Amino acid sequence: MKARKIRDGVQWMGAVDWNRRLFDSLIPLPDGTSYNTYLIQGSDKTALIDTVDPAMADILKHQLANVQKIDYVVSQHAEQDHSGTIPLVLEMYSQAIVLCTPKAKDLLIDHLEIPTERIRTVSDGETISLGNKTLRFIHTPWVHWPETMVTHLPEDRILFTCDFLGSHIAMSGLYAGDDPYVIEAAKRYYAEIMMPFRKMIQGNLKKLREIDFDLIAPSHGPIYDHPGSIVSAYEDWASDRVSNLVVIPYISMHGSTETMVNYLVSALAERGVTVQKFELSTTDIGKLAMALVDAATIVIGTPTVHVGPHPSVFSVTHLANALRPKLKYAAIIGSYGWGTKAVEQISSLIPNLKVEILGTVLCKGRPREETLSELDALADSIRDKHTAI
Ligand code: FEO
Repeated sequence: MKARKIRDGVQWMGAVDWNRRLFDSLIPLPDGTSYNTYLIQGSDKTALIDTVDPAMADILKHQLANVQKIDYVVSQHAEQDHSGTIPLVLEMYSQAIVLCTPKAKDLLIDHLEIPTERIRTVSDGETISLGNKTLRFIHTPWVHWPETMVTHLPEDRILFTCDFLGSHIAMSGLYAGDDPYVIEAAKRYYAEIMMPFRKMIQGNLKKLREIDFDLIAPSHGPIYDHPGSIVSAYEDWASDRVSNLVVIPYISMHGSTETMVNYLVSALAERGVTVQKFELSTTDIGKLAMALVDAATIVIGTPTVHVGPHPSVFSVTHLANALRPKLKYAAIIGSYGWGTKAVEQISSLIPNLKVEILGTVLCKGRPREETLSELDALADSIRDKHTAI
């Protein structure tokens, strides 16, 4: 992809990574991603905002071929998908210096061995003049590491946000427009990357409300030309509000736990409670994370392997604990063969989830009438709690 004009003196550069399917060797990318870079040419100085993943450095190098000088490389986030090509840019432009937060300076030295003399830190609210254009830096920690910041270009009413408000989606178009799928992709991104930092995001959104902008230009995914939709979506996702939704991650070995899950799904539906269930041997973990953005309750369904939960349940419970969703209630259900400590072990895995445990329903072997009655009672309890949300 060639460089593309956004405004006079402002160009999109970067790489669209259509084929990437995994990020951090962990996060599924069903729609690929992009690494957006922005070139801002003022009357006196030129700045480049973020770079690209080192695997696509040649694309950026080609786009910069006719750019005579770069004075500043703005590093909004030190993770390598944005910072990894900074050393190449510094090599290409011997006068260029990196602008970043004080925390980013240490990280850029640690991760990329950028010489300290080529880094200048900027304080929260500091401005740098490019002549007829100004860069204003706003510190927004924890979107997604502790050192992150966003950059405002007031003359063109553009806010550059790096990971914050971004989406893992590869597109030929430059702008999101009103495409609802972009918001869906941004929700997946929020769920997988941003959700653990929900409280900090609330504070960062407050800072954004004081800035005038018409465009939000993230470093992943398309540019938001109707930025109100992504900002209000983030305000909803990061809020303390939960939905009348139960998420059930589960797995079954011989069918008994699945029978229990299906019975509970039906019982909850009869009571007006929305349910999303995720069979863990086949599910898209990103879809599960997205459901956790809004859910009030999680019900974990597990058989017992030896005395503990199934390893897939171990893994997903650990992930849910790390993502810190705003869940309010939890329950554990499942079947075991001859003995179990699944409840004790699962409970020890979720210290970050500030949930009220509404019950555990375990049965030895196949579920019988008394087990189904216990599941009805659990469904009653969930309905009563959700009615009060
Ligand atoms: Fe897109 Fe946290 O890096």
